[in-house]
Amino acid sequence: MDKKNIDWSNLGFGYIKTDKRYVSAYKNGAWDEGQLIEDDMITMSECACVLQYSQTIFEGLKAYTTQDGKIVVFRPDLNAERLANSARRMEMPVFPEDRFVDAVEQVVRANKAFVPPYGTGATLYLRPYMFGINPVIGVKPAEEFQFRIFATPVGPYFKGGAKPITIKVSDFDRAAPHGTGNIKAGLNYAMSLHAIVTAHKEGFDENMYLDAGSRTKVEETGGANFLFVTKDNKIVTPKSDSILPSITRRSLMVVAKEYLGLEVEEREVYFDEVKDFAECGLCGTAAVISPVGKIYDHGNEICFPSGMEEMGPVTKKLYDTLTGIQMGRIEAPKGWIKVID
Ligand code: PLP
Ligand code: COI
Repeated sequence: MDKKNIDWSNLGFGYIKTDKRYVSAYKNGAWDEGQLIEDDMITMSECACVLQYSQTIFEGLKAYTTQDGKIVVFRPDLNAERLANSARRMEMPVFPEDRFVDAVEQVVRANKAFVPPYGTGATLYLRPYMFGINPVIGVKPAEEFQFRIFATPVGPYFKGGAKPITIKVSDFDRAAPHGTGNIKAGLNYAMSLHAIVTAHKEGFDENMYLDAGSRTKVEETGGANFLFVTKDNKIVTPKSDSILPSITRRSLMVVAKEYLGLEVEEREVYFDEVKDFAECGLCGTAAVISPVGKIYDHGNEICFPSGMEEMGPVTKKLYDTLTGIQMGRIEAPKGWIKVID
């Protein structure tokens, strides 16, 4: 299979149009059979529910080329399950989870020429999404929907790749208690746009959001969960009903325990404790594990002992093991890797 002529090693996290995308439409209470199409444009009513009331949800997962040349996808069943949970919360129909996984396979297969070669550091990012498309003017859910998946080859989410980043404690909230922080709804990201633009203008790479109720506990960033390492090498990750249940974070907890023999704790993390941790990282599909070197909090700085040059040693072990599993260098737990023939 000939690959596209792309400078794989220098890709950033951007959109590149690929050959095929998947679409299935929901009408009169049922999903149609779905198909791969070439057209990347979507035509809809000016009054479509997604445009007026943001009824849209999405997912993110990646396809990798392994060391032995196979193309694989990482835990797509968990993305299917999470999209179904997002749909229920947003009054949208569930796209059947087995059909989600099948559609992911179809999109990867149809865009094999865009799957970055092994060793380039790039991957094929898959973006499943669903939105309400019929005209809605009174506030209520749509009755017609589209489920789609497109693919785009990507490099690292943060410019420096594995270089530690600096984040700030945001003055804005991302998700309310009992709100939608625990699902992947577009509205959560719309909420964060002003905050991320503000952080970037001030020279920071990302925001740390605290819990909106008390502003004392660590939640997550705009696109990743937190992992902390204690001075005695325990992995700590925030537990909250208003953060996204990251598949990367859940996988890393297994990797830490089962592969590295580390103790793991998922619990409420008070911001006051953060200064005592030895390492900090952001984890997610796009972020993989991005090390945090410094946190700025209204004039005070927390500088982690791991510094601004390299990932901390435990973060590095987690990173190497997880990416080793994804790229086929390390045996994966059963069911984590789906091979695309
Ligand atoms: N938190 C938020 C807000 C996200 O957008 C993402 C990205 O999907 C994550 C966490 C990480 O989740 P995952 O590891 O499933 O990609
Ligand atoms: C992902 O990691 O897949 C996400 O959706 C995060 C987003 C900020 C790119």
